[in-house]
Amino acid sequence: MSQTVDLVIFGGTGDLSTRKLLPALYQLHRHGLADRLQRIVATGRGEIDQETFRAEAHANLQTFLPERDWDAAVWERFRDRLHYMQIQADNDEHFTRLADLLAQHNATVKLFYLATLPSLYGDICSHLQAAGAVDHHSRVVLEKPLGHDLASCHEINRQVAAVFGEEATFRIDHYLGKETVQNLLAVRFGNPLLHPLWNNTFVDNVQITVAEEIGVEGRGSYYAKTGALRDMVQNHLLQVLSIVAMEPPTSLDPTDIRDEKVKVLRCLEPITAANAKERSVRGRYDAGAVKGEAVSGFLEEAEYKDAETTETFVALKATINNWRWAGVPFYLRTGKRLSRRYSEIVIEFKKLSFSLFANDPNELSNKLVIRLQPEETISLHTLNKKPGLTRKLRLQPVELHLTEDPQHKGVSYDAYERLLLDAINGDQTLFMRRDEVETAWRWIDSVIAAWDEAGTPIKPYNSGTMGPGAATALVAVDGRNWYE
Ligand code: BG6
Repeated sequence: MSQTVDLVIFGGTGDLSTRKLLPALYQLHRHGLADRLQRIVATGRGEIDQETFRAEAHANLQTFLPERDWDAAVWERFRDRLHYMQIQADNDEHFTRLADLLAQHNATVKLFYLATLPSLYGDICSHLQAAGAVDHHSRVVLEKPLGHDLASCHEINRQVAAVFGEEATFRIDHYLGKETVQNLLAVRFGNPLLHPLWNNTFVDNVQITVAEEIGVEGRGSYYAKTGALRDMVQNHLLQVLSIVAMEPPTSLDPTDIRDEKVKVLRCLEPITAANAKERSVRGRYDAGAVKGEAVSGFLEEAEYKDAETTETFVALKATINNWRWAGVPFYLRTGKRLSRRYSEIVIEFKKLSFSLFANDPNELSNKLVIRLQPEETISLHTLNKKPGLTRKLRLQPVELHLTEDPQHKGVSYDAYERLLLDAINGDQTLFMRRDEVETAWRWIDSVIAAWDEAGTPIKPYNSGTMGPGAATALVAVDGRNWYE
């Protein structure tokens, strides 16, 4: 008989749980993928009775799920598994009650999902242990941000590790749950055609862009203390980079994949005060218009008016000092209130050293464009003859589409569905290991120290553009352009 699981969500009434976790769990039920999940216990600081919580969950699910996925019969089944419990992180009695509840059903696996302030993770883990709620089958899932620098991340990891072993600790980066990020492994390691080209002999540069239209959306004091580098680059962009750049793993086992990813992070060359100017750009959005709608600037929003040292945009030129990638720049950029929402990886191959054609030779390169969102597509940009009776042969770009967008095939899912399913099944492949997160922080700390020492300014950009002009210059001085 397969293992049964009880899931306890700390922060169960919070934004993440409401928008992402409960809808993802509902979807897993709808697809019949969560049969082993006996109970979902959402916890929160407030006193809410069971039926009120379920009624709120019902309303929220209808808000956040696509209308076509709503099914009253699925809700009935889901509802019966959904419970609420008041737990305050410093209240021993609350944890004892939780341990009693879990003991009644005695599911094989107790899965604790921590989506509260990370500063509470250590306390929650030690209270769970003291109440006897943790055994050798228990697992813990940790939401980001894991600290704000290497030292604070190390401390959170240390506190959690006092209760849960590394094999029981699942650190979430929801970008790893995106279908196309996983497809990257398939494309890279399943295609003999591409394999010989994936190195500095053939690749000219790699670009990773995560552009958002939204602003900081009232996320309290979190964003003001965090900024784009810590909020997005430390985790999502570096995780994507490590999958693009990793060596072939020995197998698809979680350890083998994560061993290769962390090696890439270790090879990232630190950014220093001496090169911060050529290698990094910080920006902050001013008022403007996104998709025709007027929006205010970051510092004009009441809760951010003092956040003058917070960047909402960052562009970096990273280099990976290893055999495969020496000399290939990895340009990274992410920002809020940009002209459109998309996340994309572009592998630009080297240009021909000599061209027979009428085009400007600078136009003649092949690119592999991997789009994570809004669509999930991979396309190879090749060059063909421009049709017609022209005297001189002229080339034009032609895109070969290598994937069908799963959204059009009706097999798309949210990253949290994938990750919750893997946590329920105990598969750590798409979760970050402790050394990965800490190595990523070490590099981010180098960037922050370089900015502090060099006094790197934060450049304003108008909302609805693609960031400060300096980000264009960062790439242009190398004779390149951002792929738009
Ligand atoms: C989160 C960041 O991790 O990712 C947010 O904290 C950001 O600031 C979000 O908006 C972006 O995720 P996605 O999946 O919408 O690209």
